[in-house]
Amino acid sequence: MKYFSLFGFAGSLRKNSFNRGLLSRASEILPVGLTLEVMGLDGLPLYNDDIPADNLPKTVTEFRQKIAGADALLIASPEYNYSITGVLKNALDWASSDTFGNVMAGKITAIMGASKTQFGTVRGQLHLRQTLHAMNTRTLSRPEVFVQNAGKLFNGNGNLVDNTTTARILKLLTTLLYELTHE
Ligand code: FNR
Repeated sequence: MKYFSLFGFAGSLRKNSFNRGLLSRASEILPVGLTLEVMGLDGLPLYNDDIPADNLPKTVTEFRQKIAGADALLIASPEYNYSITGVLKNALDWASSDTFGNVMAGKITAIMGASKTQFGTVRGQLHLRQTLHAMNTRTLSRPEVFVQNAGKLFNGNGNLVDNTTTARILKLLTTLLYELTHE
């Protein structure tokens, strides 16, 4: 049986982040045929076009290699001020600049997001789609996973404890697997 590798990252550095929690839940319910490796974005410095391409910070090289080596990407992000977080945008810039090479191009990418409010990252995800479009990724249009009022769905340790949301993540993963097996 062929396994496809997913690489996941979240646009929040918070220890008990709801969005990091979405990725953790995904890793617990992976359909047969998928693997998932998640990396924190904590170590990435701010993007700087002046850094010599042959002397990129180790974390940047690692992040870029993991994207390049993955069959598909899984991104979870909060919405900050109606957009994606600076943490996520910075990471995506490192992965896609003309200067260092665009490792996002052509990647099948699935997105999801959780917020404390009733908007569930709907506005942030629209911005994320626009940003991914600029990088020429192949972002799944459906299913859309907007997790609203996250404070009620996660426990104090940032673990998702809601079955409906878990089922929505599983649907996203099975759609991703379908795309990978039918490309
Ligand atoms: C927020 N939050 C927020 N929520 C939302 O639904 N729409 C928004 O525009 C914003 N804007 C915003 C800006 C800033 C600077 C912060 C720090 C927060 C609240 C956000 O949903 C909440 O902090 C989530 O818990 C963040 O996700 P993580 O860190 O739990 O993954």
